[in-house]
Amino acid sequence: MNLPTSTRPDPRTTPLPRLAGKVALITGAAQGIGAATARLFAQHGAKIVLNVLEDNTLAQRTLAAIGEEDALLYQADVTDVAAVQRMLDIAVARFGKLDILVNNAGINVFNDPLKLSDDEWTRCFEVDLKGAWNCSRAVLPIMLQQGAGSIVNIASVHGHKIIPGCFPYPVAKHGLIGLTRALGIQYAAQGIRVNSISPGLILTPIAEAGFAAAADPVAERHRQTEILPTKRIGEPEEVAYTALFLASDEARFINATDILIDGGRSQVYHD
Ligand code: NAI
Repeated sequence: MNLPTSTRPDPRTTPLPRLAGKVALITGAAQGIGAATARLFAQHGAKIVLNVLEDNTLAQRTLAAIGEEDALLYQADVTDVAAVQRMLDIAVARFGKLDILVNNAGINVFNDPLKLSDDEWTRCFEVDLKGAWNCSRAVLPIMLQQGAGSIVNIASVHGHKIIPGCFPYPVAKHGLIGLTRALGIQYAAQGIRVNSISPGLILTPIAEAGFAAAADPVAERHRQTEILPTKRIGEPEEVAYTALFLASDEARFINATDILIDGGRSQVYHD
């Protein structure tokens, strides 16, 4: 459509939507980083498939913030291969394609290695690593058929550095960065990019729960803030903007790599 010059957006003053015409599936999108990413992607013109573990008040709030016209809310556990496939079938039936997958769903499993149960080990790997593979495996045939696609995995600084007592979460996140590289190389020539983001401490419900579990939550929050070079904790929107860049065509030559977003903390040897 040719708009009259006077009503055309002026690219010098009106930024163009960065995901116009794209369809994005975001896992674990009810709250935290997933919800912030879903809202930002929608603001930039994408249609959104909101994967949630539970269709609760938070999930409905995220859906309402985007609007039912532009979003599909689908309840599925990412560890359930059949449920993930059903979600993809319904998403493609609704929006006709799938351009972006953000594997954000994740859980903290933190323990002393010798106190860890087999169930905890299995749950950690099922959600934090296999869940991302389940969703990638379901979207890859669609992206291959389209000849284009972008997968963004939400890894962690724990995928680069080790904090004692957090076992086996960092093992799974190292694996997620490995999955990113392996799939990124495997499908690069077919137009599919796979990258990851490694956030440091970000103020979300998972982080709030970590503070709440400490003997002195206020002191723990203060300690965790003070060890950051920025002297402040990251915000979900800051991760969402990194995902927006990686998901968009602006990042079209960025593949099989990881972006750390931790205010510089992981570069510090010691204080
Ligand atoms: P959060 O706990 O606020 O949100 C995680 C979401 O994943 C929740 O909505 C939860 O329902 C969903 N989820 C969990 N298991 C699921 C499953 N089996 N199927 C579908 N959905 C499931 O956490 P937050 O902080 O927003 O974390 C998002 C991602 O970022 C996670 O992968 C986490 O490991 C990672 N991350 C978070 C950091 C932080 O400081 N908040 C730091 C580094 C990484």
